[in-house]
Amino acid sequence: MAEAAVKRPIGRGRFITFEGGEGSGKSTQIKALAERLEAAKLRTLVTREPGGSPGAEIIRHLVLSGMGKLLGPDAETLLFAAARDDHVRTVIEPALTRGIWVLCDRFSDSTRVYQGRLGQVAPAFLDAMQRVTIGDLKPDLTLILDVPVEVGLKRAAIRRGAGAPDRFESEDLKFHQDLREAYRQIAADEPRRCVLIDANADTATVAANVWAVLRDRFFKADIGNVANLA
Ligand code: TYD
Repeated sequence: MAEAAVKRPIGRGRFITFEGGEGSGKSTQIKALAERLEAAKLRTLVTREPGGSPGAEIIRHLVLSGMGKLLGPDAETLLFAAARDDHVRTVIEPALTRGIWVLCDRFSDSTRVYQGRLGQVAPAFLDAMQRVTIGDLKPDLTLILDVPVEVGLKRAAIRRGAGAPDRFESEDLKFHQDLREAYRQIAADEPRRCVLIDANADTATVAANVWAVLRDRFFKADIGNVANLA
């Protein structure tokens, strides 16, 4: 089925999501992008999932502790959905309405990949959850940071230091390979919304590639109206 175009009221902020496997560098890149957007005088909000609102952060703690896994895949999916519902209603939608650009570290593609492709939760169940939690809200752009599994896991281990791996970091190598594949598939299926970014490069190079995508997608037409977009 052809990908539908996003309709966006004038004055509304843009909703940009970052996706990718463990150690793909999402948080570093989101921070870099937020700084650039703010330098261009665009109001920006950085947020994340699971979490991003006080209620959703409580659920984040539950799922990442592995507690959700004990309940089984469907119930764990309900926990992610409950967190997203709160986050969308109390943080994302109000910010977009006020014209703020929202940069979100993971969103509904994570559920598609982790719970759907890898957790084998039924597509109909995921569709129903999606309707309830996000309705018509769709990212204006999704950047999928793609990195070889060994590189990503090594980065995640360095970041973690002596701490224990979380619920998903501790899955086996095959899981992470399937994860990468599932994300690449989403990028191929939805080229209008998604861009695959080669994240196996230094931070500055990846940030420059991310910025090039934004310029191309959002600023080409009004390059004269927005300051500091070079
Ligand atoms: P986090 O520490 O934020 O990981 P990362 O730095 O990789 O983003 O942990 C979030 C974990 O939750 C991550 O392993 C992916 C998983 N997750 C899901 O399984 N489903 C979801 O819908 C979301 C948003 C995250």
